[in-house]
Amino acid sequence: MAFPSNVKLVEMSPRDGLQNESSDVFGGMVPTKIKLELIHRLSHTGLTHIEAASFVSPKWVPQMADAKEVMQGIKRREGILYSALTPNLKGAANAIAAQANEIAVFSAASEAFTQKNINCSIEESLVRFEPVIELANRHQIPVRGYVSTVLGCPYQGAVEPEVVARVAKQLYDMGCYEISLGDTIGTGTPRNAKLMLEAVSRDVPMSKLAAHFHDTYGQALGNLYAVLEEGISIIDSSVAGLGGCPYAQGASGNVASEDVLYLLQGLGIETGINLDKMIEAGYWISGQLKRKNGSKVALAKGR
Ligand code: HMG
Ligand code: MG
Repeated sequence: MAFPSNVKLVEMSPRDGLQNESSDVFGGMVPTKIKLELIHRLSHTGLTHIEAASFVSPKWVPQMADAKEVMQGIKRREGILYSALTPNLKGAANAIAAQANEIAVFSAASEAFTQKNINCSIEESLVRFEPVIELANRHQIPVRGYVSTVLGCPYQGAVEPEVVARVAKQLYDMGCYEISLGDTIGTGTPRNAKLMLEAVSRDVPMSKLAAHFHDTYGQALGNLYAVLEEGISIIDSSVAGLGGCPYAQGASGNVASEDVLYLLQGLGIETGINLDKMIEAGYWISGQLKRKNGSKVALAKGR
């Protein structure tokens, strides 16, 4: 299979990037105005999709407690879809009321992880999503679906590609227009990533699948190369490699957007995104959080 000529990047930093942020620079909570400034800077890079917040329980993820203020405070730019993660009907209703352009539901390919992350079984999570998708349909809002732990689970270990395929197909059949495949803890390697994708793409069209790889073990770019070769054309990434999942201990951030852009440029794949502006945004947020920039490309190129 040939590489795609275009790739859509879905920027995760305001949600996946910040949800686990516990930096005490701001006494724990990153101020809403910093989140909004990050989204504003990202909005000027050429990105067309930014996951801006999550409407989850603030008891479970305190850092996202200001999701409403963030979603409502965005200076929207035409052509950009600002989406929100929602675990249930309450979150979906709040996200839609706050003018999210899209919502995303999330389950996993591991029972243990689903219990820790959203306090229910995989099956119960899918039942929960039915009214969420119905509500979104009534508002003509697209719904994205995530499957976590597609290449390994922090609690159960190995995950069968067939289980990933089953959950992905269920979400797709329920009405999710795109399914994002999350290597939540970044343990995958290129061969496993290919095998998993082969299994999933038998049930869900390749053009509807996204790669959402965390870089905990430094494998994300290798895994992306492998799945691009298989025909993946949607990639989730996070500027400066920010982030991690609070319910997957030790999980580091998504693969850095800057590093993905550099890889794609080298492969001659179009994204419509300006690498220099992305690097600027990454240095800005790393400076605010007083964190080392997690993008190798940004470090190599400098400010
Ligand atoms: P629960 O405790 O079972 O929920 O949590 P509940 O329905 O029993 O409600 C308990 C309380 O939470 C109630 O409030 C509800 O109103 C409130 P109380 O009466 O006690 O005052 N509540 C909410 N409040 C605000 N927004 C809501 C909401 N829902 C209930 N939406 C629940 C179940 C799903 C809510 C909880 O487990 C949760 O919020 N989990 C979210 C965990 C999370 O955000 N994890 C990180 C995102 S997933 C991820 O990062 C992976 C991904 O990036 C892909 C990858 O990398 O693999 C997507
Ligand atoms: Mg993630």
